[in-house]
Amino acid sequence: RKDLLHIEDLPAKEIQLILNTAKPMKEIMSRAVKKLPTFRGKSVYNLFFESSTRTRTSFETAAKILGADTSSLAVAQSSLNKGETLLDTVRTLQAMKPDLVVIRHSSSGAAQFLAKELKAGVINAGDGQHEHPTQALLDLYTMQERLGSVEGRKILLVGDILHSRVARSNVWALKNLGAEVVLVGPPTLLPPEIKSWGVKTTFNLDEELPGSDVIMALRLQLERQQSGLLPSMREYSQLYGITAERVRRTGKQTLIMHPGPVNRGVEIESSIANSSQSVIEEQVTNGVAVRMAIMYLLLGGGTAHVVD
Ligand code: CP
Repeated sequence: RKDLLHIEDLPAKEIQLILNTAKPMKEIMSRAVKKLPTFRGKSVYNLFFESSTRTRTSFETAAKILGADTSSLAVAQSSLNKGETLLDTVRTLQAMKPDLVVIRHSSSGAAQFLAKELKAGVINAGDGQHEHPTQALLDLYTMQERLGSVEGRKILLVGDILHSRVARSNVWALKNLGAEVVLVGPPTLLPPEIKSWGVKTTFNLDEELPGSDVIMALRLQLERQQSGLLPSMREYSQLYGITAERVRRTGKQTLIMHPGPVNRGVEIESSIANSSQSVIEEQVTNGVAVRMAIMYLLLGGGTAHVVD
């Protein structure tokens, strides 16, 4: 077991092991000197073939706190531009003996493909529309920190479910831990196979608001849209935008979440994104702790058996 590729078949006890390991990692982040010698001499390579602010920086920060050395492939300036294949690229990197490779790629299954080729551990930092497992784990950590358990909690995932690897990973993880998940979005942005996911699906956000413990707004993935699928921004925000009025109608101190980056005024009203109920920045902080935990476990920092 060397990789973290997806969350769909990750047992609940392994999810919980990662989340429990993240707690002391978060405490380390608050120290005056945020540096451990744990993985001195280990190397972590970041391969981001798609844009990223949070995930990439978070992995780099996590690896550095744990004492590992990090390298990032500058994809735009790499020999991929000279026609080198992905496989040859990773074999070249493999020859430099990394211990862990973190990959984000536009193709679903890219991380799994690399994991078979590489001796190093592979962490999926988002593959196409398939999965974003570390995002779901940091989301779970944030929910558990605020709510205790997610079991029996009503959690709305709202928006562009079709293109969202964050939604897919969250659905598998939340279902596994016993949450009541409701997927809400316009008909054109729900995937055709959604019934097989085994959770409630609806077009009507307003009906689902009462009693919700968490509202997670998802980013409208404008870069992945096919023509005709996307409603106008105005129509979208009227029907699915998270506004102060909608938050009030939950009747609870509902947590407001968003994986980022946020299209303010479309997916979520700015005042709500900045409100005391919003944990959007806390998600980012927790992302470092959770990624520290994952690397710690995969690199053999205590418990060998993590994933896949
Ligand atoms: N949530 C997330 O994956 O953000 P980035 O694209 O900035 O990494």
